[in-house]
Amino acid sequence: MEIRYLGHSCFTLKTQGKTLLFDPFISGNELAKGIDIGSIEADYILVSHAHEDHTADLVALAKSTGATVIAIWEIHAWLNKQGVTNTHPMNIGGKKVFEFGTVYMTYAMHSSSFADGTYGGQAAGFLLEVKGKTIYYSGDTGLTHEMKLLGERFTIDLAILPIGDNFTMDAKDAALAATYLNTKKVIGMHYDTFGFIKIEHQAALAAFEKLGTNLTLMKIGEQLAV
Ligand code: NI
Ligand code: MN
Repeated sequence: MEIRYLGHSCFTLKTQGKTLLFDPFISGNELAKGIDIGSIEADYILVSHAHEDHTADLVALAKSTGATVIAIWEIHAWLNKQGVTNTHPMNIGGKKVFEFGTVYMTYAMHSSSFADGTYGGQAAGFLLEVKGKTIYYSGDTGLTHEMKLLGERFTIDLAILPIGDNFTMDAKDAALAATYLNTKKVIGMHYDTFGFIKIEHQAALAAFEKLGTNLTLMKIGEQLAV
């Protein structure tokens, strides 16, 4: 499996010949200017919540790629109104087996509304069982005890967690989240994109080291094997 960072909370995961795209926000991200949005391929787009910094490129990319969009019911309904009909609605606690693996929709502690004011349902995250690995993408969230439940129920190989503070957990809380999740490997997201969430990288890395877990800060455009 290959994971590629496209900035902010946007990643692609390539597995079983399919490309999964998470929270498409590229054109509005100054730091992601080097990413050619026209070259992005996706078979599935997973959307954690409706905020603009997670959905700005959603409708355009859903239409250009023809990907199936996996999101909570309210986002699915909003997309249908925008003419995006290849959608798969879910809700928290549910799971669905897709051709690439199993997707669970998980709890996130955050709000969710579209730029036009439409309610986006509950903010969510995703836990994926793909190719014998378990990957947790939390979406925007504060630290919650629900993460302990995920750590008990699943053996999580990799967690992708926000570390930017102000709107989500900071790195210290994310390091604690990693202990709740019982995972040793974390990729950071939702940091540096704009002023509210600019962070000190060394301090973030140190916060994880202190709790015996490992934080990776990917460069935008960088690809890693998972
Ligand atoms: Ni948000
Ligand atoms: Mn956000």
